[in-house]
Amino acid sequence: MSQVSFKVTWKVHKTFLPMPPSFSDLLPDGDEVSLILQDAGGQKYAVIYSRQNKGLLMQGFVNWVRNYDPQPGDIIVFELIDSKTRLFRIALDKEGPGPTDGLYLGKRKDLLGKFPTDRNFFLPIQDLVTHVFICGVTGTGKTVMGKAIIEEAILKGIPAIIVDLKGDLTSLALIFSSLQESEFEPWVEIPPDKQRREEVRTEVEKHKANLEAFGLKSEDMERLRNSASFAVFTTKFGKGIPLAIASSLAAPTDTTHLKPNEVTRLIGALSETFVKMLFPEQKPSKLKKYMTYLHEIVRHCWDRGVSLEGQDGLVTIQELIQHPPIRTVGVGRMSVDEFISPKIRNELASRVAMCLSGEEQLWFTGVPLDIDLLLSRPSSDLVPISIINLRDLSAIDDQMHAVSHLSYALLKWMNRQRGSGGKPRLIFFIDEIGGGGGRNAFFPSSPYDPPSKMGLNLLLRLGREFGVCCVFATQNPGNIDYMGLSNCQTWMVGWLQTKRDREKITQGMSTVKIHIESVDDQLRNVRSGEFLVKLKSGDTAIVQERWLMSYHRALSEDEVGKVNTRSTLEWFEKHFSNAGPEPYIAQDLDYYDILEVSPKASIEVIERAYRVLAKKYHPDTASQTMSRAEAEEKMKKLNEAYEVLSNPVLRGKYDQERRRSASHS
Ligand SMILES: Nc1ncnc2c1ncn2[C@@H]1O[C@H](COP(=O)(O)OP(=O)(O)OP(=O)(O)O)[C@@H](O)[C@H]1O
Ligand SMILES: [Mg+2]
Repeated sequence: MSQVSFKVTWKVHKTFLPMPPSFSDLLPDGDEVSLILQDAGGQKYAVIYSRQNKGLLMQGFVNWVRNYDPQPGDIIVFELIDSKTRLFRIALDKEGPGPTDGLYLGKRKDLLGKFPTDRNFFLPIQDLVTHVFICGVTGTGKTVMGKAIIEEAILKGIPAIIVDLKGDLTSLALIFSSLQESEFEPWVEIPPDKQRREEVRTEVEKHKANLEAFGLKSEDMERLRNSASFAVFTTKFGKGIPLAIASSLAAPTDTTHLKPNEVTRLIGALSETFVKMLFPEQKPSKLKKYMTYLHEIVRHCWDRGVSLEGQDGLVTIQELIQHPPIRTVGVGRMSVDEFISPKIRNELASRVAMCLSGEEQLWFTGVPLDIDLLLSRPSSDLVPISIINLRDLSAIDDQMHAVSHLSYALLKWMNRQRGSGGKPRLIFFIDEIGGGGGRNAFFPSSPYDPPSKMGLNLLLRLGREFGVCCVFATQNPGNIDYMGLSNCQTWMVGWLQTKRDREKITQGMSTVKIHIESVDDQLRNVRSGEFLVKLKSGDTAIVQERWLMSYHRALSEDEVGKVNTRSTLEWFEKHFSNAGPEPYIAQDLDYYDILEVSPKASIEVIERAYRVLAKKYHPDTASQTMSRAEAEEKMKKLNEAYEVLSNPVLRGKYDQERRRSASHS
């Protein structure tokens, strides 16, 4: 293939595009010579070279200009492919200067949204602080777009807190920069009818080809991988680092930022969800009395700065329910006993007590929900990316509980920061804010008002000043609070199926200046992986999202447990708080004795001990000294001990429990 190429700087040319003198040497004699230009998408353009003008006539060339929309100063590259047919490849110079403060999210299509171009699309970095909203039907690439934003933000040094409801954000940590099959192998999903090796090879080839198409190389992936420190947290049952979510009645933030009616709404929303959680079997309409009573108690506590944090907070609430700190309830000022009898108060208090036992106490087990802590890492050189994986919480109320607490924790953290001077400080990414739709959405339109809505609304409204950048995505634009979204200045809209959804979005977008004739037309034409992007400036572009450097997949619960590195686990283990007994630890076994190591043994010693003993108890080796059943029993115990002691988080919990039982015996 020929290497002959020419670079030409674009200005605004009306009649012809001047070409370097040597260009004409490649062409046959004649005043006007016809040529074919071919773009990266294979589209051909017939143009004429004029010897007299020493350039390409704009007539003909204008089609390429319309599709690629070159800007003054852009470099156009012509590369000779075949001199016989006078076929040239034409492209905008990808290596040319791009906005240095932008996030590379994909390629622009032409102005009419029909043809792909070589022009990269960059989201200005400072636009993050006025938040990003992404929507489109399922499979349009919303999650990929959100993840591309995070990947780029990492390269710019911006940390992130990410809520992963489906498990497909946790895979941001899977960056296989060697592009070797062995790196992908453990993570590729193999359909039942497929051969493992074949499938892995196909996946790797696909990944490589797509990255290449977007100009991304192994070095870029290496840089991304070496820049970030991922930590995956789970609540209650999951296999990530356990995260303790505080009691749902704790004051969320320095309430001076809130208007008085917002405080009332917030207490109302929290009391309501809390009571609903206590009485899942009852209709909400039957619970009004409890809600009102609790509302009054919580307000009393917030006004006086009584902490309702964590497990102690729940104990406080339980006591105050039985022994009210207030004499009257409501505007009519009914006495407490008239409003709610001691018997009913006891019923409420005993339900609270249930939260402090059994499964519910798992909400209080793990790393405390403190944003500074979630963003801490052993090395301050790395950008902390903390993923809160809520995939294992099957009940929407539980997910709601976690999302609202997280948003309040962020508000609290934000109040401790100074203004960020317009610079992004932290990204808060929630995929699927539409949740289960209607009352089960995290950010629904009126009349629904779940506790998460208030928190997210405040983050959208106040986050800008502190550099807290929200990236919210949903496949369900019909049910979103557009009032709140008016604080969001960047919209990325993928294909939407119904006219109703398109109208919703068009209305939402039109709250800000927009230079586009018909958003509806544009939205009907975008394809999967493409978005109509409206920037803060009001400009719009059709963007084909880029391929991710990380391996995009929804991870299973077991896989989630494998993402955290040993050093990350060890780091967070230090901050681990534990509320209750450990149901999974058999109290009569001492795992250190089973492994025949000291309780201070390093992980290497434990691993070595396990290997030696596993050999000793292997049914084949052990047959000379013990029965098969005995050997199997020993092996079972050995595996159990090893599973706990080789995992720093489990070992930390076990050690705590071991110390506790030692001090009681
Ligand atoms: N590494 C990757 N980078 C970019 N796109 C990818 C990558 N791996 C897979 N894809 C594409 O992403 C598509 C799925 O996109 P994505 O998960 O973002 O959709 P979505 O709009 O979030 O859908 P849903 O509403 O179901 O969550 C897949 O069909 C696949 O073609
Ligand atoms: Mg998705």
